[in-house]
Amino acid sequence: MADARMNSPTMNAAERPTKPSAQPNALANHLAAAREEERERIARDLHDILGGHLVAIKIETALLAARLEAEPLRRRARAIQKLLDDALATVSRLTRELRPGILKDFGLGAAIECQAEDFAQRTGIACRIVCADHDIQLPQHAAVALFRIFQEALTNVCKHAQASQVAVRLTQEGDEVLLEVSDNGRGLTAADIDKPRAFGLRGMRERLDELGGRLELHPCHPSGTRLRVAIPLAAAEGSGAERCKGAQPQ
Ligand SMILES: Nc1ncnc2c1ncn2[C@@H]1O[C@H](COP(=O)(O)OP(=O)(O)OP(=O)(O)O)[C@@H](O)[C@H]1O
Ligand SMILES: [Mg+2]
Repeated sequence: MADARMNSPTMNAAERPTKPSAQPNALANHLAAAREEERERIARDLHDILGGHLVAIKIETALLAARLEAEPLRRRARAIQKLLDDALATVSRLTRELRPGILKDFGLGAAIECQAEDFAQRTGIACRIVCADHDIQLPQHAAVALFRIFQEALTNVCKHAQASQVAVRLTQEGDEVLLEVSDNGRGLTAADIDKPRAFGLRGMRERLDELGGRLELHPCHPSGTRLRVAIPLAAAEGSGAERCKGAQPQ
């Protein structure tokens, strides 16, 4: 384990700073940009091709349903229309997640709020935004990285925490941007953090290494987990990336 504190018997969560001196490197930034480009292409295909087909099937089904006379058949047609509506809603949500246009147009604070609303609606877990600073000035690649970390944090809450509530805080403090995601679930252990086949937390650390940031995991009281991410503005600046209000996934 990288941090001796993780072995403390009193700890049921862990803090594991990433390398503070890590310099953002050009290759890592290039790979992150390529990943975002790929997501954007998939989002476009999902929306334009799959979404288009689903709408066409919906129209055909409605035309067919209008000609049906027997009630059992009409009921079947209504069931198909309901499934199509669900599929269209899923395409729309996936498109938003893959290509958070709101991040580009309205900035990180708005994108975080929108994602939290989607999450609450989809999972039934109340997601409260304690604070989402809309004036945060991060370079685009750092904002995209933070947004992806937020998505994985919410996914983890949904998959593992058995929580009923999540609180989110996005602030700029001094020369750092801080994101906190706190849940009231079962909490996590040092063993959870070191699972060999788990990639979510590892991916967060890798993204943060590239930005010279850090990830901390703390227990919440009386129960739950607080995930805390810090990105130094200065370190992110060092990458030479263009500073902008939000982010522009390529
Ligand atoms: N909010 C949370 N509450 C409780 N346990 C958590 C929470 N977040 C993560 N964990 C635990 O930490 C482990 C590691 O999380 P991580 O995101 O790295 O992997 P994963 O979610 O299991 O798999 P993957 O992200 O690769 O699909 C999880 O398997 C889970 O046991
Ligand atoms: Mg995960």
